[in-house]
Amino acid sequence: MERALYDPEHGYYEAGSRPVGRSGDFYTSVSVGPLFGRLMAARLAGWLEPYGSSAPLLIEAGAHDGQLARDILAAWPPRFAPPRYCILEPSPRRRRRQRELLASCPHPVQWLADWSELPPAGIRGVIFSNELLDAMPIHRFGWDARRQEWFEWGVAIDPVGFAWTRLPIPAAGIGPTGAHDWTQPAVPLLPEELRAVLPDGFTVDLSPAAAAWWRAASSRLAHGWLVTLDYGLDWEEMLDPSRAAGTLRAYRQHRVSDDVFAHLGAQDLTAHVNWTALRETGESAGLRTAIQTTQAAFLTGILAGTDPAIGEPPLRAGEERQWIALTHPDHLGWSFRILAQCAP
Ligand SMILES: C[S@@+](CC[C@H](N)C(=O)[O-])C[C@H]1O[C@@H](n2cnc3c(N)ncnc32)[C@H](O)[C@@H]1O
Repeated sequence: MERALYDPEHGYYEAGSRPVGRSGDFYTSVSVGPLFGRLMAARLAGWLEPYGSSAPLLIEAGAHDGQLARDILAAWPPRFAPPRYCILEPSPRRRRRQRELLASCPHPVQWLADWSELPPAGIRGVIFSNELLDAMPIHRFGWDARRQEWFEWGVAIDPVGFAWTRLPIPAAGIGPTGAHDWTQPAVPLLPEELRAVLPDGFTVDLSPAAAAWWRAASSRLAHGWLVTLDYGLDWEEMLDPSRAAGTLRAYRQHRVSDDVFAHLGAQDLTAHVNWTALRETGESAGLRTAIQTTQAAFLTGILAGTDPAIGEPPLRAGEERQWIALTHPDHLGWSFRILAQCAP
């Protein structure tokens, strides 16, 4: 998955395609229109307000083509000090594209290739992302009901292409406190009652890379917020019978498919974010979980707090369709959720 998405030459997110939006493979809240960025700008400005003019950072990761940064900065409420906007982007090619899109932006934007470029004393401000962690590589585990143990699905090359192959049982990922360590390629221990009934072949897709990214971000946040919006499930929801086939899937031209080996490098691969993993990983790094709710509830709260008296109208003419796409349960409203944790 890592190579299919991020190989510098052939990876889906590197090879030059424009995957997001009507002419691409999938929609995001950003591609729906500028309303998402406008509402995020209002909330982010509120989160940064207590810092006054002490130059807090606003760090976006997974910025893709830079459109969300552009929307947020264009809609930054004038009564708040403009943020020091940084994009955390490991890919030189993506950084180039983002620079192009943001060249005419009225506020300066800085780029960071990785966390090591940040001040060692830690970050004061907000680190946020939209649909970043579902695009991180996963490990795929299957349940062997006879042996009562998990195995891992690997990818083999056979004469006709790629094929799933069983790998030895993953080691248990127990952290120093005895709790499950979600950054390890392993499945948490299941309660006895569940082991007895979990059907053979039940599949879970877990991303140690996403948990490791969250841990890295948590440990660098000295003061402020760590925030992500995405589609995802709690760990218990991943064990629901309706999820027996896992959540890994492919998107191409707005069609979803289970054939993740097809069109390698030319289709998106994604799996639901594991909210339990992120929450526990952040909390074990000392963060407090402040918000976990649906995108619909989160955006409705922002809209309710806008103040027409200071030029922040709730919905403007023409924004109704965007609002419905962002918040309706059948669109992005309920399947997308926000997790926001804060330090200290
Ligand atoms: C689904 S796109 C998100 C698009 C955009 N945020 C939006 O909402 O329209 C996922 C993006 O995350 C980027 N990405 C993946 N791993 C990353 C990492 N470790 N740091 C920063 N960006 C990453 C990918 O290159 C891709 O551009």
